[in-house]
Amino acid sequence: MAKVAGSRILGTGRFLPPRVVTNDDLARRFDTSDEWIQQRTGIRERRFSGPGEGTAYLAEQASRAALADAGMGKDEIDFIVVATLSPDHFFPGTSAFLQERLDLPGIGAMDVRTQCTGFVYALAVADSFVRTGQARRVLVVGAEVHSTGLDFTDSGRDVAVLFGDGAGAVVVGPTDDPQRGILTLRLHCDGRHARELWIEAPGSSIFPDRLHAGMLGEGRHYPSMNGKAVFKHAVERLPEVIGEALSDVGLGVADVDVLVPHQANMRINQAVAQRIGIDPEKVVHNIDRYGNTTAGSIPIALDEAREQGRIRDGSRVLIAAFGSGFTWASAFVRW
Ligand code: COA
Repeated sequence: MAKVAGSRILGTGRFLPPRVVTNDDLARRFDTSDEWIQQRTGIRERRFSGPGEGTAYLAEQASRAALADAGMGKDEIDFIVVATLSPDHFFPGTSAFLQERLDLPGIGAMDVRTQCTGFVYALAVADSFVRTGQARRVLVVGAEVHSTGLDFTDSGRDVAVLFGDGAGAVVVGPTDDPQRGILTLRLHCDGRHARELWIEAPGSSIFPDRLHAGMLGEGRHYPSMNGKAVFKHAVERLPEVIGEALSDVGLGVADVDVLVPHQANMRINQAVAQRIGIDPEKVVHNIDRYGNTTAGSIPIALDEAREQGRIRDGSRVLIAAFGSGFTWASAFVRW
């Protein structure tokens, strides 16, 4: 297999399930309010999946859109990477179910489990595979269905208001131009904070049964979050990892055309934008409409930004994410 100069994004796509759930809709299920949610997070509404619309289904729709955008037939794909924290099943990975849906038997397919940074890690896998010749055209998907796994009672309200369902996808392929494409990627994790944002159960570390009825009563199968710790670390780590990407490519903040941050919380992204001193007009937000779609958020935002003409041929795009693990990551792409 031939090595190439680098990799680039050949097409983007997204899929959001049609059902819109507003803050007022949530306020009818538990004690919260549109005002509290908007003030703290910037979220106005999110999308929730319906019956038969699991993560692989959403991933399939986004993948087909990305393939169409790239002007490619599905048979040109030779590897699939799916980033998700909400797999269709405990095993095998959602990539296997996506591959089945796309009817591409035989090609390699794997899942990436790094939550909100999942898409950036998955992009790094694709970039490495393309550069080394391990694969030529990689489908990279970030997809989540949160809505079937949240605690919609008062005790889960801090988390339940944040998340939404959705998927985004890109196709990564080779380029001979070393000045274009995915120019750098930075990946980090600090597992000392693993329990600050996690779902404990079911889990193989739980003995003797990874899942039992008592857990359900205790809500251990729902996500739990130390929101203040997440916020505090996010506003530190994101500027750092953005600085690393910029230093790798020898550019400054003023050279960035578009910053696509993970959509966790409008206040986090505003604080980060202020800290790094970027023009707020250059920062992409869609959290108001979709909430936090975890691994889906960056590819969804990339696709929307391209559709709106904010990302064009030659655009300098900086991507940054922070989330459970804690993990944080960045990428710099010359489109
Ligand atoms: N609706 C109304 N009130 C709520 C609520 C909700 N959905 N969730 C929590 N509250 C209440 C709390 O019970 C608390 O009440 P009390 O003062 O009577 O105890 C009050 O609001 C303030 O809670 P607190 O946790 O101090 O709020 P906060 O200012 O830290 O904001 C977050 C909470 C979750 C919005 C904020 O911590 C945050 O955004 N963290 C980052 C989360 C994130 O991005 N996660 C995903 C990362 S990938």
